[in-house]
Amino acid sequence: MASSKVTFRIQRFDPEKDEAPRDQDFQLELEPGITILKALNKIQAELDPTLALRYSCGSAICGSCAMKVNGHARLVCKTQVSDCVKDGVLRVGPMGNLRVLKDLVVDMEPFWDSLDKVKPYLAPDPAQAAPEKERLQSPEEFLRIDPSTTCILCGACYSDCNVLEVDKSFVGPASLAKAHRFIFDSRDAETTERLRKISEKTGVWDCTHCGECSTRCPTEAKPLERIEEIRVKAMTEGHHGNAGARHVLGFRETVGRRGLLDENYLPARSVGFFNIPGLLSIIPVGLRMMKRRKNPPLRPHSIDKVDEVKKTFARFEELRK
Ligand code: SF4
Ligand code: SF4
Ligand code: FES
Repeated sequence: MASSKVTFRIQRFDPEKDEAPRDQDFQLELEPGITILKALNKIQAELDPTLALRYSCGSAICGSCAMKVNGHARLVCKTQVSDCVKDGVLRVGPMGNLRVLKDLVVDMEPFWDSLDKVKPYLAPDPAQAAPEKERLQSPEEFLRIDPSTTCILCGACYSDCNVLEVDKSFVGPASLAKAHRFIFDSRDAETTERLRKISEKTGVWDCTHCGECSTRCPTEAKPLERIEEIRVKAMTEGHHGNAGARHVLGFRETVGRRGLLDENYLPARSVGFFNIPGLLSIIPVGLRMMKRRKNPPLRPHSIDKVDEVKKTFARFEELRK
């Protein structure tokens, strides 16, 4: 196959010279089958040695080469140039939700700090004597955590998470996938405490289900799927004293039992009927909605095909029992 000319539009930022990031174009004549990492190495070696980027293994193992390609986080050592060129141009920039140190290199500290919050290591029962060799688990038990063990801590999910864009206190998708890895580990003795903690504010219920993390994840860790599994386990084990769980229960009460979508009941049910500071805190939101005529009707409306919906909930109740 013939070589082709590609324009790499790279976001540059040198904190010693630039006040704001700027784009710089580099033209490369490339053979087919080249990865973006190799192309960036070529730019660095042949066109501009000051270009800063981070990488190590070149084989989608170390997780250090995540950056934005055409606006979305990807491992550049795993991504072919030919899959991403649009009208002869390929845009490369640093990961999102993290401070840029130089060009394509970001400060990963907030990402590592978020991991620390979920105690990312095995906590076996201290009352049990330490085994002579390793702590064993069956193949079936391992399969339960297999997907979450594949996380390579690249940060691609953290970069593109919509919640982190507006709320940096959210623990983030990678940490939740890591939490899953220990919550479901048969050798861990702190499942209850882990579930209690992760159900609090900034934890598993703060995710808005946009799915971006799973789309961006280069491994089978797929954070959104892990988040859903943690939520189910937290609900099943009775961790209901938090806004997320109360919202789920409230939804079941209005839609599942009454067949109504009661959007006035849900906010109060979620913060808690006796939580006076919580109730006061949602009043301004309600007033803003009223001002913009976005408030739900006072009389909740019935939902379409209500009998079908009730049947689905009843069936789910049976299965749950
Ligand atoms: S699904 Fe949740 S955790 Fe994943 S990117 Fe969206 S908001 Fe973030
Ligand atoms: S969950 Fe996926 S995207 Fe997120 S850090 Fe781990 S491997 Fe990377
Ligand atoms: S360089 Fe190691 S994952 Fe890309």
